[in-house]
Amino acid sequence: MRLDGKTVLITGAARGIGRACATVMADLGADVGVFDISERIGDTADAVRARGRKAAFAICDVSDPEQVQRGVAKVQEELGPIHALVNNAGIVNNIAPLARMEQSAWQREIGVNLTGPFNMIRAVIGGMAERGWGRIVNVSSSAARNGLHNQVGYAATKAAVLGLTRNVTIEYASRGITCNAVLPGLIGTENVRGMPEAIREHALGFVPARRLGEPEEVAYLIAFLCSDMAAFINGTDIPVDGGALLNPIVLGSRKAVMEPPSSRWAATLAPRSVSPWTGATWTDRPKILSSVRAAIR
Ligand SMILES: NC(=O)c1ccc[n+]([C@@H]2O[C@H](COP(=O)([O-])OP(=O)(O)OC[C@H]3O[C@@H](n4cnc5c(N)ncnc54)[C@H](O)[C@@H]3O)[C@@H](O)[C@H]2O)c1
Repeated sequence: MRLDGKTVLITGAARGIGRACATVMADLGADVGVFDISERIGDTADAVRARGRKAAFAICDVSDPEQVQRGVAKVQEELGPIHALVNNAGIVNNIAPLARMEQSAWQREIGVNLTGPFNMIRAVIGGMAERGWGRIVNVSSSAARNGLHNQVGYAATKAAVLGLTRNVTIEYASRGITCNAVLPGLIGTENVRGMPEAIREHALGFVPARRLGEPEEVAYLIAFLCSDMAAFINGTDIPVDGGALLNPIVLGSRKAVMEPPSSRWAATLAPRSVSPWTGATWTDRPKILSSVRAAIR
């Protein structure tokens, strides 16, 4: 699979999954434009050039339509038409129970996680439709399907991105454009590796693969969705999560894990211990859960 002759624009590419997309797609032959609000974005452009491909970058807040228009114009001037767009920039702005969510944090999450992809798509889709070829990949999250404890803004915006994805397909599939979402699970980016260890280990207990994903493992799927080979995959959402979406069937509900088990659950779960993967035993469970609850309060 190659991306020769394609120009890809990736948002939130200064680090993490976005940066991995830039280097993986450059390795596959694409020229790459990158946006971020961080000054570090220039380093990602340098990493693309070091792979022998052309790069352009802009400091651009995707929630602001004017910055998006300026950034897209800069990338097109330097690299030519944009064939593929990866809406990767995303934030968690407020970890709190719904009732204590700050209004401004909720608005910012909508601005970056939902209005951002909307602004970006509007800026590039006209050209894609005229040329009769385009690829759009929206980076959502497994939280879009499952929800996420104390992260209502994040989960709601990531779910809304799936609606945006489907509508782009309905309106533009006949013009040679595909729009799909990817649903990363726990990926070993700076944010996730910086989590309190108790939370990370607890969360890994739900991942059948028993490890964090690598940013490149998300980037490979995104690169494929941006290729000619993925022309008939459209309007869908694909997990990249080491099997984590299957886990409730294996371990019981999230509620059963977060709350003290009733005697019925205890009878069902106790014989297999809490996590055959992390090695935590049933007797470790209250200690683990109280440290997790303390950390997320
Ligand atoms: N890491 C994970 O485990 C995980 C899991 C599920 C989904 N995701 C999603 O994948 C995407 C990338 O995640 P990551 O872990 O690499 O994140 P990250 O925080 O490491 O990188 C995100 C980048 O986006 C940039 N950014 C933030 N706000 C921006 C804005 N308004 N405009 C432009 N750029 C902005 C940041 O500066 C940063 O460089 C996000 O959308 C995230 O929600 C990540």
